[in-house]
Amino acid sequence: MPSLEFEQIDYRSPAMRSLLSRYTRYTNGSKQCMISGVIHFAAYKSVSDSISKPLQYYQNNVCGLVEFLSLLHEFGVKNFVFSSSATVYGSMANKGKPLTEEDCVHHPTVVKDESGSERKVEAGVFGLTSPYGRTKWFAEAILADLAESDPSWKITALRYFNPVGCHESGLLGEDPRQKPTNLIPVVANVLAGVQPKLQVFGSDWDTPDGTAVRDFIHVVDLARGHIAALAAASKGHIQSPFRTYNLGTGRGHTVNEVLNSLEHASGQNVPVERVGRRAGDVGFCVADTQRASRELGWRTEKSLAQCAADVWNFTKQKVISVVGQ
Ligand code: UD1
Repeated sequence: MPSLEFEQIDYRSPAMRSLLSRYTRYTNGSKQCMISGVIHFAAYKSVSDSISKPLQYYQNNVCGLVEFLSLLHEFGVKNFVFSSSATVYGSMANKGKPLTEEDCVHHPTVVKDESGSERKVEAGVFGLTSPYGRTKWFAEAILADLAESDPSWKITALRYFNPVGCHESGLLGEDPRQKPTNLIPVVANVLAGVQPKLQVFGSDWDTPDGTAVRDFIHVVDLARGHIAALAAASKGHIQSPFRTYNLGTGRGHTVNEVLNSLEHASGQNVPVERVGRRAGDVGFCVADTQRASRELGWRTEKSLAQCAADVWNFTKQKVISVVGQ
């Protein structure tokens, strides 16, 4: 395990320049930064907050990124991994089939299908539903333009599907400071007695049990995906200066299946109220994972049952510590 140095700095502040300088060797008028790569997780991610505070979202997620890229460019740090989201697919997520990276491209692209015939994909996307989603799309488009202008960049944008779960130790987990809106944190809150029930949004989707289907990826698998992306980029395995990858399992689960797996892991029943569809939701959002497995040599290892067990392990400890106080 290499030693880890932790610095807590706003990535938009001038202190970032001092940090990069500290890791830079200056010899005979030239400089070489010892930082070999950067993973950018510094974006805000709440859909509802982005609707009420769009400027804050554009300021941090877009302007902050542009400033930071300029700084990295100055220091010659060009191996860059960006946390993106399946939200960039917009209404393509309604197509009812796993999403491939070519469903959202930033420059016209020629794609070969399984039969070997070629088709041209135009750049752009339809149906982005929130400022948060737009910040992810803008950020990717900026990164694609940067790589086009300077092919010495190695930029990978990782499109997260639905990250869930906690570290199996129960020491690291999701503990939102605000009222959660994502499915598993809401169920965890119900199990912890913080919320009385789960509202299931929509039971009339065209899916096996009528509830929506998502691709739930364990956070540890997701973390491994970042390491794989950094490693592949530094070994020169990535074929273009800007490349997108879906980080998902390739397998969909319905909201009911998620609920059942958490009930099973906890041995408790979750009270449910079935209500109408949530605005902006899609019925089926699942990753095609072939590109990530082929080019990054990465695939997920953990199941939904493991996600549920780890979430319950973390939630249980929270309940004990609240009761014990
Ligand atoms: C949401 C965001 C997406 C973001 C992702 C981050 C929206 C519209 N989309 O995706 O932009 O990248 O989180 O993880 O907010 N559900 C319930 N009851 C609840 C909560 C959720 O039934 O209390 C259902 C939803 O209707 C959906 C499924 O569970 O069908 C998953 O919801 P959620 O966890 O919020 O993820 P996404 O909607 O996929």
